[in-house]
Amino acid sequence: MSDFHHTPEAEAAPPPAAGTSPRHGRAKGEPRFPDGPKADPAGSHFERRIRSFQPRRSRVTAGQADALQRLWPGWGLDIDGQRVIDLAELFGDARPVVLEIGFGMGEATAQMAAADPDTNILAVDVHTPGQGNLLALAERAGLSNIRVANGDAIILLREMLAPGSLAGLRVYFPDPWPKKRHHKRRLIQPEFLSLAATRLAPGAVVHCATDWEPYAEQMLDVLTAHPDFENTVPGGGFAPRPDHRPLTRFEGQGLDKGHVVNDLLFRRVQHKELSPTG
Ligand SMILES: C[S@@+](CC[C@H](N)C(=O)[O-])C[C@H]1O[C@@H](n2cnc3c(N)ncnc32)[C@H](O)[C@@H]1O
Repeated sequence: MSDFHHTPEAEAAPPPAAGTSPRHGRAKGEPRFPDGPKADPAGSHFERRIRSFQPRRSRVTAGQADALQRLWPGWGLDIDGQRVIDLAELFGDARPVVLEIGFGMGEATAQMAAADPDTNILAVDVHTPGQGNLLALAERAGLSNIRVANGDAIILLREMLAPGSLAGLRVYFPDPWPKKRHHKRRLIQPEFLSLAATRLAPGAVVHCATDWEPYAEQMLDVLTAHPDFENTVPGGGFAPRPDHRPLTRFEGQGLDKGHVVNDLLFRRVQHKELSPTG
């Protein structure tokens, strides 16, 4: 999860075993989680790109590490950008799939999956403790409609998801990148929306929420201007917070600081094909 608002993890990390690195608790050169998510799944395979997330050293608790080791082989997906994935095969059924980008610690994701078992959630983040946390939450709640993807959502969208394969997109409290020189790192931009539009089925809804008002205005501007999306709110503007979106961890931190939260719900439009005669 982002360090823009930072809270310490609830669970304490275990002490390192003898003969291991004090910081990571493993011998030099050993993978962090032999059966778990890879450290940098796409590696240098793709061009240098502006990243919407910040690299951070992540402390993984014993419970998260255990979930990563045990559950990753069945429920995890490393974003290596090497193949287009068959979503029905990944989930084991053909239910509609919604992509959630940046689930953080995953509490809201697990709640939404439990509340709507007929929708599959492909949840992507780079944050290793969050990946472990979400896997543990999913197992504890007996959820079979969550898969956890590790890596950059842009590569997932561009290289690994088929056109029209998504029934929805959720981006809750994306990193706000408040400094002007960092605005280029914000996720919700015209190019991102053009890419997302190709992967969304006609009628699919993009749901964004943020507690950073200048970013909310930017989201509203770029979504409103984009030809592939229409506002679900008659007359335009922000949407009332829908009941189905639970309070997220990052949102709670923003509310504690007195921030105003805005939701945006835009639909992927289907363009009418023009006949050769117009
Ligand atoms: C500010 S946190 C919000 C987390 C959560 N949605 C919440 O509301 O508590 C944003 C998250 O998005 C993730 N993120 C940002 N850009 C990403 C990308 N391109 N691919 C995958 N995850 C990304 C970050 O790692 C971080 O965990």
